[in-house]
Amino acid sequence: MASYFPRPSFVAIVVVFVLPLMMPGITIRPVLAIFRPSPWKIAHATFYGDETASETMGGACGYGNLFTNGYGIDTVALSSTLFNNGYACGTCFQIKCMQSKACYANVAFTTVTATNLCPPNWSKPSDNGGWCNPPRVHFDMSKPAFMKIANWKAGIIPVAYRRVPCIKKDGIRFTLQGNGYWLLAYVMNVGGGGDVSGMWVKGSKTGWIRMSHNWGASYQAFSTLVGQSLSFIVTSYTTKETITAWNVAPSNWKFGATYKANVNFR
Ligand SMILES: *[C@@H]1O[C@H](CO)[C@@H](O)[C@H](O)[C@H]1NC(C)=O
Repeated sequence: MASYFPRPSFVAIVVVFVLPLMMPGITIRPVLAIFRPSPWKIAHATFYGDETASETMGGACGYGNLFTNGYGIDTVALSSTLFNNGYACGTCFQIKCMQSKACYANVAFTTVTATNLCPPNWSKPSDNGGWCNPPRVHFDMSKPAFMKIANWKAGIIPVAYRRVPCIKKDGIRFTLQGNGYWLLAYVMNVGGGGDVSGMWVKGSKTGWIRMSHNWGASYQAFSTLVGQSLSFIVTSYTTKETITAWNVAPSNWKFGATYKANVNFR
C-alpha cells in the first residue's frame, strides 16, 4: 500500500533547515561555524626575548600584560604576511620542529597564540636575518614556547604549523579605553577562531553602533557611552559567526577596566 507520509529524509530536512528559518527569535548556531584545524604547512621559527617572556608583553595586538590577560608565555609574533594588519591577533597555532638536529624528538608540537607582530627589517636579507620580511611566513616565538620544541641554540628551525581552534575558559573579555567621546575596546580571550573581524557596541540608551578597527585587537566607536551599561556584538573573522554579549559592562564602567562576557566562540 502506498504511504502518504513524507520520506524521513524529507522530514529531517524540514525540521533541521526549514523550521528554524520560520521561527524568528530563535538563534541557531550554525554547525559549520565551528572552526576546524587547517592542514599542516611549512615555515620557519625563531624566538625573541628571554626565558621570562617579559619582552613579549605589550605587543602589537594590544593585549598588554599577557599573564594577567590570560595568554601566558606560549605566544608568538607573526610576520606581516600572517599578521594581516592585526586581524590575526588571538589566532592559535600548533607548531612542530622539523628536520633539524635541534628538534626535541619526543615532542609532537606546541600550541601558541598570536599576540604580536614580527616587523620586517629590510636592512637584512630575507634569507639571513630578515626572517619576517614579506612574503615570508614566519613565527617569532616567545623563548619559553620555542624551548618546548627545540634547543634554543639553533636560533632558527624549520617548522610545520597549522591553525587550530583556541580553547578558552570563560567568556570574551573587553578592556575599555578612550575618553568621554571615544570608546576603544580591546577584545581578548576569544575562543574558536580566536580572531575578530568586526564589533558593534550598544549603550543602554543607544542603538547598535558599528565599531571600526583601530589597531591590533582593538575596536573603536566615536560615541558618548559613559554612564550607560554596554553590550557588544563580536564577529569571528574565521567563521563569520556572530555572538552577542549583553550588558557586559555595568553603567558605572570605568576606563582601563576589563569586563567579562558570559559567552564565547567555540
Ligand atoms: C635591522 O637590522 C640591522 C642590521 O642588523 C640592525 O642594526 C637594526 O637594529 C635592525 N632593526 C630593527 C628594527 O630591528
